[in-house]
Amino acid sequence: MKIFKDKHTLQKEISKTTGISFIPTMGGLHKGHISLIKQSKKSKSKTLVSIFVNPKQFNKKSDFMSYPRNTKKDIKLLKKLNIDYLYIPTFKDIYGFKPKNKFFLDKSSKKLCGKFRKGHFEGVLNVVNRFIEIIKPKYIYLGKKDYQQLYLIRKHIEYKKIKSKVIECKTIREKNGIACSSRNSNLNKTQMKIASNIFYYLSNLKKKIKKDYSLFRINKIKKDLKSLGATKIDYVENYNIKSFKKIKNANEKFNLFFAYYIKKIRLIDNI
Ligand code: PAF
Repeated sequence: MKIFKDKHTLQKEISKTTGISFIPTMGGLHKGHISLIKQSKKSKSKTLVSIFVNPKQFNKKSDFMSYPRNTKKDIKLLKKLNIDYLYIPTFKDIYGFKPKNKFFLDKSSKKLCGKFRKGHFEGVLNVVNRFIEIIKPKYIYLGKKDYQQLYLIRKHIEYKKIKSKVIECKTIREKNGIACSSRNSNLNKTQMKIASNIFYYLSNLKKKIKKDYSLFRINKIKKDLKSLGATKIDYVENYNIKSFKKIKNANEKFNLFFAYYIKKIRLIDNI
């Protein structure tokens, strides 16, 4: 595994390869990332992982500061997984140039997380656009847990006619049901249990509303989530995963999207 901190040296190296399979991360690697990497390694291209905690996508400084970081442990894991390249850029390496292409932000960025985290998706698209320009990956591996992010990155790639292909990867879960996330490492045992209970409550709810949509009563659901231990609920909504619009009836293929807090820790998922 070769490690790069500077885009020019990285570009020189990868210009010799026939294609790059790219996994963008903010570190704090977990089973979800491992699964993306394993899928990428099945392709014939070289696997490149980036670790960059992008300050521009955090709407609160405190959230940026408390975001889990453990680069030493991440490097050890990536070596074991035998990836080809690791890119750990500095802020200047990413933001010290003007991209040729401005990023495209689809209007659905205003929904769900976009409504509650002002500037978040602008920050995500800004950094992803820069990574794409530097790396020109053949494939980009993204997890469905952050489905809105995945959808918006795909829209950007389509709109800008970029040649990279998004590979959508399934959400990896802990044994207790909760989606793997770097933020889980900030949860203590009791909070894990709360998150797990909330996951099972909402999974059951989804099964029930598929049969009888009148059971989707948002005030009751929010009240139940609070009594299970959620501190604050940003949203619980059913979205058609193709159109990324709120469903009109339960016959549509939909996922239940939710975001909530346990104390100061924000968790999102969709099932
Ligand atoms: O999902 C993430 O970890 C980040 O949003 C990403 C795609 C690496 C951009 O910073």
